Amino acid sequence: MLVFAASDKGGTGRSVTSANLAYQRALAGDHVAYVDFDFGSPTAAAVFDVPDALRGTGEQGLHSYLEGTAAEPVRVDVWRRTEHPQLRARPNRAGRLVLFPGDAGGGEFATGEEVRDRCVDLLLRLHSEFDIVLVDLSAGRSYAVDMILAATAHPRMRYVPFRWLVFHRWTRQHVIAAAGLVHEAHGLLASGVERGHDEDALRSAIRFVRAAVPDPESPIWAQGTPAQSAWMQACDDALRRLAAEQRVGDSVVLGIVPLEPTLQWREQLITEEDVLSTQIANKETLEALEEIARRLTDDEHWGRP
Ligand SMILES: Nc1ncnc2c1ncn2[C@@H]1O[C@H](COP(=O)(O)OP(=O)(O)O)[C@@H](O)[C@H]1O
Ligand SMILES: [Mg+2]
Repeated sequence: MLVFAASDKGGTGRSVTSANLAYQRALAGDHVAYVDFDFGSPTAAAVFDVPDALRGTGEQGLHSYLEGTAAEPVRVDVWRRTEHPQLRARPNRAGRLVLFPGDAGGGEFATGEEVRDRCVDLLLRLHSEFDIVLVDLSAGRSYAVDMILAATAHPRMRYVPFRWLVFHRWTRQHVIAAAGLVHEAHGLLASGVERGHDEDALRSAIRFVRAAVPDPESPIWAQGTPAQSAWMQACDDALRRLAAEQRVGDSVVLGIVPLEPTLQWREQLITEEDVLSTQIANKETLEALEEIARRLTDDEHWGRP
């Protein structure tokens, strides 16, 4: 299964959440590839605590591969290279967790047919080697998004299943932006159809993930005044109505990740130890991530084309 992580804005929680989803699937036994197609800012390694690729790799990464100067993009075995103390050893029964970083100093680049073909080759190869291939895409209607829409419409990819996650925060701007990324004139659906996708099939493969969502009922907010609490509840209700109007309402949401201090401050992978032994992370957050990870491949939570 290919999973494309997109967002209209930057700073949505796309990378932090996706990295945790990749980690959860690997823990559950899948072989997982995390592919950093955020070409302008390839910093995913930081979330995995891999020190030698923090701003992209010094070796030949995804930029070099797609631009045709490397036959293969470099791979980072997360279990072996991470400095996260609890991830050092691959847990029992866990699958492989491999990061494909961009190049250090690499930027956004325009893509033509050759680049698209190399992208198709890469996706086909990764699909045959990994159970889950999670591709973190540059924000907005970027070259990376265009390239993936073109690659997945290619006849060679006809039998490769894929799904899209569109991340947004729980604010008015973010709700409107996420809806625009999918539904507007040059959004994912319209651009996808232009490139040969079937509109209903593509729509059924897109779900939204709300990240960093404050829960007005949570104890974190309980110290507020009654007026604050009523006001938060009213804002939450208004956002729900807005999301429904914008066609990004509950029926197309794959999951909701709560506002979580360990993600806010440290952009880290959340482990069971963080919840059970040191208790720095909230149980609800870990459960939400586990659930979204599970739903990635659960047809119940996706539309029928
Ligand atoms: N669930 C969350 N709770 C609190 N803060 C979060 C959460 N998810 C992400 N963040 C914060 O949002 C910032 C942006 O997240 P990131 O994954 O880098 O976004 P993107 O990849 O969309 O640009 C992070 O620096 C982190 O501080
Ligand atoms: Mg990111």
